[in-house]
Amino acid sequence: MFARSAAKTLASPSSRLFSSSSARQTKVTVLGAGGGIGQPLSLLLKLDPLVSNLSLYDIRGAPGVAADVSHVDTSSEVTGYAAEHLDAALEGTKVVVIPAGVPRKPGMTRDDLFNTNASIVRDLAAAIGRVAPTAHILVISNPVNSTVPIVAATLEKAGVFDPARLFGVTTLDVVRASRFLASVSDSSPSECNVPVIGGHSGPTIVPLLSQLSRGKRLQGEDYDKLVYRIQFGGDEVVKAKDGAGSATLSMAYAGAKFTGLLLRGLSGEKGVITPTFVKSPLFADRGIDFFSSPVELGVNGVEKIHPIGPLSPQEEKLLEACLPELKKNIEKGKAFVA
Ligand code: NAD
Ligand code: LMR
Repeated sequence: MFARSAAKTLASPSSRLFSSSSARQTKVTVLGAGGGIGQPLSLLLKLDPLVSNLSLYDIRGAPGVAADVSHVDTSSEVTGYAAEHLDAALEGTKVVVIPAGVPRKPGMTRDDLFNTNASIVRDLAAAIGRVAPTAHILVISNPVNSTVPIVAATLEKAGVFDPARLFGVTTLDVVRASRFLASVSDSSPSECNVPVIGGHSGPTIVPLLSQLSRGKRLQGEDYDKLVYRIQFGGDEVVKAKDGAGSATLSMAYAGAKFTGLLLRGLSGEKGVITPTFVKSPLFADRGIDFFSSPVELGVNGVEKIHPIGPLSPQEEKLLEACLPELKKNIEKGKAFVA
C-alpha cells in the first residue's frame, strides 16, 4: 500500500512537521506519479535539495515508483501512496504537481483530452482544497488552458482559491523555444531565453523572439518555421511516439525546472522570473483572466506579473490569433465546474 519509507513519515504528525516555511521542510506531492511524466519528474524532484519530503500518488503504481526513487542518495524522504490514500498523500504539502490524466495520440488536439482529464483534475483539486488548502498547485495535465481554470473554479467553490498559488506549467514551451532558437542561431540554449506568452496549445503559444537579438535577426521563412516549431513541438513528439503518448522526458525536465524555480522563490530568493499560466489582469479587458507571461516567484508564490513588453508586428498578429482561442478554452474550463 505504502512504499517502505512511508511508515516513518506517516507515524509523525505531518501538519506540524511541515508547517514551517523553511526550505528544508518542504513537502512536494506529485499526483500522477506513476505515469510517463510522473516517474521521471519524481526522480528529478528527488535530486532537488529544496525538497525535504516527496509524496508520490497515483491510482496505479505509485508505491513502486516511490520505493525505487527512495534509494537515490539524496536527503529527502520519499513516500508512495496507492489510490485510496489521496488525503494522506496531500497532508501537510506545500507544493502539489499534477501530471495526472491521459496524453494525446496522433490526430488528437489537447482539447480532445478535456472529456477525460477535466474530471480527473477537478476531483484532485477538490481534494487539495479540502486537505491542503494553502498548497501551491502546478498543473501539467492537458488541456492546460482549461485545466487551470477548472482548478481555480473548484477551489473558488470551496472558498479557498488564492490566485498567487495556482500555476499552469508552460515551461516546456520555454524550453523548446530556447533549444530550437539555439539550433538555428548556432548558439547555446542558455543564451536563448525566449519569453513565451499566452497559453499552452498551438496558436495560443506566442514566442516573443523579437525580445532577443538572436531572435530578432530571423526573418521570413526562417522566422515562420521557428514559430511553427515552437507552437507545434508537442505534435512532433506525439507523431514520433506513434500512439505511445506525448512528451514525457522533456516535460519531466520542464516540470522539475519550474518546481525548482518556485521552491527557490518560496525559500526567499529574489528575482526568480519565468513564464507561467496564472490568473492575470493583462488581458482581463478582453475577457481573458488567465494568461502566461513572465511572473516573479516569491515567498507567497506569484509575487509580480510582468507586462509582456514590446511586440513586433508579427508578434502582434500571433497574439491576436491566440486571444480568442485562449478565451474559448478558459470559458470551457469554467463552464465545466459551474
Ligand atoms: P500517462 O498516461 O503516462 O500518465 C498519467 C498518469 O496519471 C497515469 O499513471 C495514471 O494512472 C494517472 N492518473 C489518472 N487518473 C488519475 C487520478 N485521478 N489520480 C491520480 N493519478 C491519475 O500520461 P503522461 O504522458 O504522463 O501525461 C500526463 C498529462 O500531462 C497528459 O494530460 C498530457 O497531455 C500532459 N502533458 C502536459 C504537458 C505540458 O506542457 N503541460 C506536456 C506533456 C504532457
Ligand atoms: C506538449 O506540448 O508536449 C504537451 O502539451 C503534450 C502534447 O499533447 O503535445
